[in-house]
Amino acid sequence: MSERSTTGFESAWDLASTIPGWLTEDQARLLFDSAQDLPDAPVLLEIGSHQGKSTIVLATAAHARGGRVVAIDPFVEGRLFGGASTRSKFERNVETAGLAGTIELVADYSTRARPAWDRPIDYLYIDGKHDYWTLSDDLKWAAHLPEGAPILVHDCYSSVGVTLGVLAHVLPSRNISYERRAGSLALFRVGRPSARDRARIVREVPWWLRNVAVKVLLRLRLRAVAARVFGHEGPYDPF
Ligand SMILES: C[S@@+](CC[C@H](N)C(=O)[O-])C[C@H]1O[C@@H](n2cnc3c(N)ncnc32)[C@H](O)[C@@H]1O
Repeated sequence: MSERSTTGFESAWDLASTIPGWLTEDQARLLFDSAQDLPDAPVLLEIGSHQGKSTIVLATAAHARGGRVVAIDPFVEGRLFGGASTRSKFERNVETAGLAGTIELVADYSTRARPAWDRPIDYLYIDGKHDYWTLSDDLKWAAHLPEGAPILVHDCYSSVGVTLGVLAHVLPSRNISYERRAGSLALFRVGRPSARDRARIVREVPWWLRNVAVKVLLRLRLRAVAARVFGHEGPYDPF
């Protein structure tokens, strides 16, 4: 990795790591690194921004290349996501990062914004609503990407809805190939997959089943069993 990108990542993660959210450092690095080969002035589209943890990582990478991030999030109400107060935190965090001018916020549902969208994008990050139908719709944003562009999917192998969507739409796709993952953040690219690429998706299925089993055990308050049987430490779902 070049000096510029290492420095950029570390300064982004210094701030992003203090923001509540669902992104490990390895995953943030994968988001950042996969934005390094984009054309100049790239447009990175993020679905699901929450308080801006991942947005700041993406916007740091975009800013270095004269580009920007389109951040789509309706800031849904409820205990998990926090609603309007989360939007205020998002705005404060991107301001603190000095990246407000690099980020265009679309405060809407991805499924509502997509049909009218007519601009090209260079990078797609999907981390919005995790049900099968929304994930299936979110994958359609890939129609705006050029050949070779990255598609990143969070919780790709830890959420029932997301994984079923990937198995239904990406596995048989002739235009999306699987590259690698950091935890459950998977990197795909626009391009014809080989049989080996497809087989590598199938080989992740046991790991997905393990993560679902861990989630069930945590719901049943059997944290000790999840630790003993699956080596999963802590109260949080695997992601
Ligand atoms: C798991 S969080 C995103 C985490 C964020 N990427 C981070 O790094 O912390 C999911 C977010 O998706 C948003 N969301 C829910 N439904 C959505 C939809 N249909 N379109 C876009 N965002 C959605 C929620 O408001 C929430 O902020």
